[in-house]
Amino acid sequence: MPTATAIAHPNIAVCKYWGKRDRTLNLPAVPSLSLTVAPFHSRTTLEWGSDAEEYWLNSQLADASTHKKIKRVLDLMDPWRPKCRVVSENNFPTAAGLASSSSGMAALVVAAHAASGQQRTTEELSAFARQGSGSACRSLFGGWSEWPLGSRMDGGDSHGVPIAPPEHWDLRMVVAMVAAGPKETSSTDGMTHCADTSPYYTAWVACAPADVEQGRTAILRRDLYSLGRIMERSTLRMHACMMGSDPPLCYWQAGTMAAIHMVEDLRRHGLSCYYTIDAGPNVKVLCSVSDVEVVRNHLLKVAERVEVLSPGPGARVV
Ligand code: PMV
Repeated sequence: MPTATAIAHPNIAVCKYWGKRDRTLNLPAVPSLSLTVAPFHSRTTLEWGSDAEEYWLNSQLADASTHKKIKRVLDLMDPWRPKCRVVSENNFPTAAGLASSSSGMAALVVAAHAASGQQRTTEELSAFARQGSGSACRSLFGGWSEWPLGSRMDGGDSHGVPIAPPEHWDLRMVVAMVAAGPKETSSTDGMTHCADTSPYYTAWVACAPADVEQGRTAILRRDLYSLGRIMERSTLRMHACMMGSDPPLCYWQAGTMAAIHMVEDLRRHGLSCYYTIDAGPNVKVLCSVSDVEVVRNHLLKVAERVEVLSPGPGARVV
């Protein structure tokens, strides 16, 4: 039976996706911008026409919620498909706010596409990945990509769009892992909770498009100072929206704040480095190649583990 293996890298948003205008189709309430990063990756092998429908994630059967998402994406790709066996491994912590769902869903659709012999465009694959995990639609592409707001009700225009390839700008994303355990509130639950209860949600949605406009310009001009400021602004507005919900949602831990202070301190000493945080406590720091060792060594004082990531390629068959 046909089998294919794909690799996809996670992407880290510099302007965040937080909020859905359609919860079933995973259509975003805001546009977003991201950088696909290597060497973190998901490696997924898919058997198209197996004896059993089985999804393995990091050597364990997928939990109910992950199973549901994988099944939904495969069913959408081919409603008459045969049974599939999916075996996926991440070489970095899963569900810890390090975007493992983005690489996982992107690798899944690319492997399914190759194993099934379908002929689809990368944009179509991106739209399928989106329905498993919103941010995954950006991991189909290497380097910098955007997920525009889109306007079609059916989500046909809601997919990732490449902005600049990995070689456009040689930067580093330094990940400070202040806690590796899985997060307690999924991104989807967190977004829904914010939309339903945070008085700041409307303001978050209203501000996001301007951040993406300015962020895209900063990327194209390779302007780290501007991009860093926009990224921190988007990050803090998203987390302010979460903290303003009822009951409050806060993904930060003590180490998160320590890493933020460390970055601010390094900036006072003349380094060009900027932080971002997703739905988890870990902190990612964008910096130039020349500053990476200093940033890394300082973050090691506040983090359990520090990894240096570089702009990476899009999802592909191996
Ligand atoms: O793709 P999801 O449903 O896991 O949501 C991702 C949300 C953030 O990581 C917080 C922001 C983003 O744009 O990636």
